[in-house]
Amino acid sequence: MSLVEIKDLKVHYPIRSGFFNRIHDYVYAVDGVNFEIEPGQTYGLIGETGSGKTTIGRSIIGLEKITSGQILFNGKDVSTKRERKAVHYNRDVQMIFQDSLSSLNPKKRIYDIIAEPLRNFEKLSDTEEKHRVRELLDTVGLGDDDLFKYPFEFSGGQRQRIGVARAISTNPKLVIADEPVSALDLSVQAQVLNYMQEIQKQFNISYLFISHDLGVVRHMCDSMAIMHRGRFVELGTRDDIYNHPQHIYTKRLLAAIPDINVDQREDHRKHRKEVEKVFDTEQSRYYDKNGRVLPLQQISETHSVALPEDQVKGE
Ligand SMILES: Nc1ncnc2c1ncn2[C@@H]1O[C@H](COP(=O)(O)OP(=O)(O)O)[C@@H](O)[C@H]1O
Ligand SMILES: [Mg+2]
Repeated sequence: MSLVEIKDLKVHYPIRSGFFNRIHDYVYAVDGVNFEIEPGQTYGLIGETGSGKTTIGRSIIGLEKITSGQILFNGKDVSTKRERKAVHYNRDVQMIFQDSLSSLNPKKRIYDIIAEPLRNFEKLSDTEEKHRVRELLDTVGLGDDDLFKYPFEFSGGQRQRIGVARAISTNPKLVIADEPVSALDLSVQAQVLNYMQEIQKQFNISYLFISHDLGVVRHMCDSMAIMHRGRFVELGTRDDIYNHPQHIYTKRLLAAIPDINVDQREDHRKHRKEVEKVFDTEQSRYYDKNGRVLPLQQISETHSVALPEDQVKGE
C-alpha cells in the first residue's frame, strides 16, 4: 500500500474586491492532482514559481484547507484536522523549509530547536533527551560543540542540516522538503542532499521533494510530477521523465539544465534553441480554450502526459 495517496486535490483561493469585498474569481493554485508516495521513496514535485507546489505540500501537512479531494495516509483519510489527530499524523509528517534562517527560531539554541518536536510527542527523561539530540546532530554531521549555539552562528548548509535533524527527531514516515537546497551554493547543495539520502535509507523515510530545478531532483527522486498552472503536465518514474519526456514543457525544463561537459556546450546551446522554437510555435495546442492544462493521458503503466489528442501514442 502507498504511504500517501492524493486524490483529485484542489485548492482554490478566492479573489475578493470592491466595496462589498465580494468573491469575483478564484486562483486555481492546485486544480485536480493525483499521485502516490511509496514507503521509503522520494516523490518529486517540479515546476516554476507559482505552479502550486508549495500549496500541495502545505495541504498534505495540514497547513492549508483543501477545497476538494482526498488525502490518504496509510489508507486513512487525513483530509481534516480531526482525522489527522486520530492517527498521530502530526508526529508522522514533518517539513523542511527553504529558508532555514526564518524557519528556525533565532532566539533558541540548537539543542532546544531539535528537542522541541520531541517534547511535543515523546515523554523522555532529561538524559534520554540529551542522548537523542546528540544522536540527531551527529546524524547530520554536526558535533557536541554546536549544541548551544544559535542559528545565526551557522552557514546556510549547516542550518539546512539542522532543519533536517529537527524534522526527523520524531521518527516521521514522511518529510516534506520544500526547496530545501534552493538557497545554497551548488557544492553545498550536494552535501545536504547526501545527508538526506543517507537518512532516508537509515530510517526508511519517504520524501516529498519540491523543487523548481530538474537538475537537482534527478538523483533524489524515484518518481515525479511536472507541475504547471496548478496541474500536472507529466508524471512518471525518473526514467520516464529524464529519458522519455513527452510534454513540451518538460522538454523545455530539461533543456534548461546546464551541461557540465565543456565540449558539448555548443550542441547543448543549439538543442536548447531548437526546443524553445518548438515550444513557442506548439505550446498553444497544450492548453484548452480557457488556458488550462489538458487532462492527463496514460501512456504506460507509470507514465502519464497532458498531450493533445492527436499526439497520444504508446511508448
Ligand atoms: N494564501 C493565498 N491566497 C491567494 N493566493 C495564493 C495563496 N497562496 C498561494 N497563492 C497563489 O497560488 C499559486 C500557487 O502558489 P504556490 O503553491 O506558492 O506555488 P509554488 O510553490 O509552485 O511557487 C500562486 O499563483 C500563488 O500566488
Ligand atoms: Mg513554493
